[in-house]
Amino acid sequence: MHLFLPFLPLVLAFPTLTPRSPSPNPNPNPNPNVNPNVNRRAAAPITSQFPYSGAKSNGLPGLGIGNVLVPNPADTAHAFQPPPPGAQRGPCPGMNALANHGFISRDGITTFDELVQAQQNVFNVGYDLAVLLATLGVGLDGDIVTGKLSIGGDATSKTALLGLGLLGKEGGLDTHNTFEADASLTRSDFFLPTSNGDNHSFNSTLFSMMTSTVSTTSSPSAPLYDLKGLSLYRAQRWSQSVAENPNFYFGPKALLLYGAATFLYELYPTNGGLPDKSTISTFFGAVPSPSSPSGYTSQPERIPPNWFSRSTPYTIPDVAIQILEMYTGNPVLFGGNTADGHFDAIFTSDGLINNGSLSADITGTQLACLIYQIVATDETPDSLSNVLKLPIEILNFITGKLNPIFEPLGCPLNTNP
Ligand code: HEM
Ligand SMILES: *[C@@H]1O[C@H](CO)[C@@H](O)[C@H](O)[C@H]1NC(C)=O
Ligand SMILES: *[C@@H]1O[C@H](CO)[C@@H](O)[C@H](O)[C@H]1NC(C)=O
Ligand SMILES: *[C@@H]1O[C@H](CO)[C@@H](O)[C@H](O)[C@H]1NC(C)=O
Repeated sequence: MHLFLPFLPLVLAFPTLTPRSPSPNPNPNPNPNVNPNVNRRAAAPITSQFPYSGAKSNGLPGLGIGNVLVPNPADTAHAFQPPPPGAQRGPCPGMNALANHGFISRDGITTFDELVQAQQNVFNVGYDLAVLLATLGVGLDGDIVTGKLSIGGDATSKTALLGLGLLGKEGGLDTHNTFEADASLTRSDFFLPTSNGDNHSFNSTLFSMMTSTVSTTSSPSAPLYDLKGLSLYRAQRWSQSVAENPNFYFGPKALLLYGAATFLYELYPTNGGLPDKSTISTFFGAVPSPSSPSGYTSQPERIPPNWFSRSTPYTIPDVAIQILEMYTGNPVLFGGNTADGHFDAIFTSDGLINNGSLSADITGTQLACLIYQIVATDETPDSLSNVLKLPIEILNFITGKLNPIFEPLGCPLNTNP
């Protein structure tokens, strides 16, 4: 089961960065006539009449005001509309819902500042967590020069300044193994031929499986998509991918998938309410349909009517504790399937992931710092994944955004050369 790699793929406690040569100048000949906003409709502005959590369009912290009716029915600019023709939608139901309500651009080409603002205003995501997620989205799948990101597939011509990104293309959130990954709640694995080429849209069979699982841990007649049920379902999806997906890769970055799963019970319930079937179905766009084989069809994701945001900001320390509990409820190994049909666990002699498992006595703060190390050092076990190495410009973008966010937690920080 365990593979002993000849090197230590993850050096988490005291990272030493392998020197990287800077990649070629991203904009050798910047054209002052290129308008970075061309081809993009911005999000509908937040007005003083409907300030929501108090976050402005400048990418800065808002006021963290919660228990707000979102969207206000009088705020017609943020009413639900289905995606306009040609719009991008992708693997993140949260982003899709924000776009369908115009809190980020309805065309699905968004920006760093829009993402930071919308997450705070709609879901009362803490400023720190909003910055972390926006940094990962734009840094890994978008454009660090224009700050733009496609929430669906490749739209490089709209996200990059000269139609060419640092990595040659900007694949959007659909890109595999940058942020999007296998064993998702409701998306098929990337390499599974059964996915018919669609591994980023809602899969109603998986939604049905998730609902069945959480019914066993809460109530068959009134299922709750809570910590206990989602912990079990995440482990089931891991087992399914080990069995069915020869290319399955579940690296330490998969801790982010646990983070996304906590959003079902931390961000989706109306303030004071429960992660019940009606709420979760609306946010995922699941429509009960007895005539469909899975029992569901799908529609665009939306915010339920008369919905109030959570009362307090959901911060990085908050999500770290939930990730820890969800993982330890039904622990699985980090690693990947290999060519000879085995699942090999990631081996590190030191640090917080030991022989493929998260160390038993890890604290919430250590887990938050581990997530920082994983995303800010880009240390990936190459033998198990074909994940590309990030150019130094992107690492600098990531550490530039994340160091001020993680410094207050006492995490050891990286400074790139
Ligand atoms: C800038 C902010 C965000 C970015 C860039 C982002 C991106 C992503 C990506 C790439 C995935 C796919 C992961 C996978 O392969 O399983 C994902 C999953 C998910 N995201 Fe987001 N996300 C953001 C914020 C949010 C917010 C604020 C919410 C909810 C309020 C949310 C809800 C979810 C959920 C529920 C999933 C799991 C979907 C599934 O597995 O079926 N996300 N997100
Ligand atoms: C949805 O997921 C199920 C279960 O893994 C799979 O059998 C099916 O092929 C998937 N459907 C699509 C359209 O990807
Ligand atoms: C998964 O989706 C991507 C992006 O649409 C596509 O390039 C890839 O071929 C798909 N995988 C399979 C097995 O069809
Ligand atoms: C990892 O596994 C090896 C071999 O089984 C063992 O010697 C070592 O003690 C394990 N390390 C931890 C931290 O469990």
